[in-house]
Amino acid sequence: MNYRHSFHAGNHADVLKHAILLRMVRLMQRKDAPLCYLDSHAGTALYDLQGEDASRTGEYLDGIGRLWTRDDLPELLVDYRDAVARHNPGGELRLYPGSPQLVADVLREQDRMILSELHPDDALTLKNHFADEPGIAVHQRDGYQLPKAFLPVAEKRALWLLDPPFEKPDDLQRCLAAVQVGIQRMRQTVIALWYPIKDQRLLREFYQRIGAAGLPKVLRVELNVRPADTSLGLNGSGLMLINPPWPLWEELEQSLPWLAAQLAQSGSGGWRMDWLAGEP
Ligand SMILES: C[S@@+](CC[C@H](N)C(=O)[O-])C[C@H]1O[C@@H](n2cnc3c(N)ncnc32)[C@H](O)[C@@H]1O
Repeated sequence: MNYRHSFHAGNHADVLKHAILLRMVRLMQRKDAPLCYLDSHAGTALYDLQGEDASRTGEYLDGIGRLWTRDDLPELLVDYRDAVARHNPGGELRLYPGSPQLVADVLREQDRMILSELHPDDALTLKNHFADEPGIAVHQRDGYQLPKAFLPVAEKRALWLLDPPFEKPDDLQRCLAAVQVGIQRMRQTVIALWYPIKDQRLLREFYQRIGAAGLPKVLRVELNVRPADTSLGLNGSGLMLINPPWPLWEELEQSLPWLAAQLAQSGSGGWRMDWLAGEP
């Protein structure tokens, strides 16, 4: 396990993922019924953007850094930026909340969170960080096993973020297999599966397979900061949203063009959103 999210926290991929994740939680919380949030590859709670790791890459400067002082953000992004701002009350961007913290901040009394993280240091940090939170359980275990271990949950509504580091070539296939197990065990689970836009050949196969996997609804959302075929690294990222709550896609249509233009690192940046299964 070489991947450490502390080098990448707050980058363009985190902006896309976290803004959408927070919005999905908000939409699912419109009803009073309890929500169970599952984060299978949780990372840790708070990242120091001025610490050694984040400073070394400076990735956050081209992510949250580009939104930090803007006063013309689309609504969906205002909520996300404010969520980060709550951890930086002085106004200077220093601490960045990871997915567990973002959701913990908006958890209601009736909601619950299940986190799994395999790296011993991050798992321990998470456990200590949330030790006094009765609704938050932290497990040091393989996140791909999370659907078998925890689904179905007692609550009628579940939201699962599947966000592995993609260190192995078969990670896309493992994600798809885990998603299928999750949906078989609890068909209404809302799933956000994050993936990197790097290898077009692997992605083409993944699109084809996920579209044909018998999943109820699959919305593909992608944002590119560079043309998809450059070999510089992470050219963009995507989320496969299984059973996304309405009217997320309508809201994203308003905010993605703006976001793609702000986060572009060469050219104009790009985005797309379409249904691979179950178009409403
Ligand atoms: C992309 S980071 C997670 C970022 C976090 N979800 C967020 O959005 O703030 C992926 C995390 O998965 C952890 N990890 C790697 N393999 C894992 C596995 N098999 N099960 C659970 N966690 C794993 C890594 O240690 C890393 O912290």
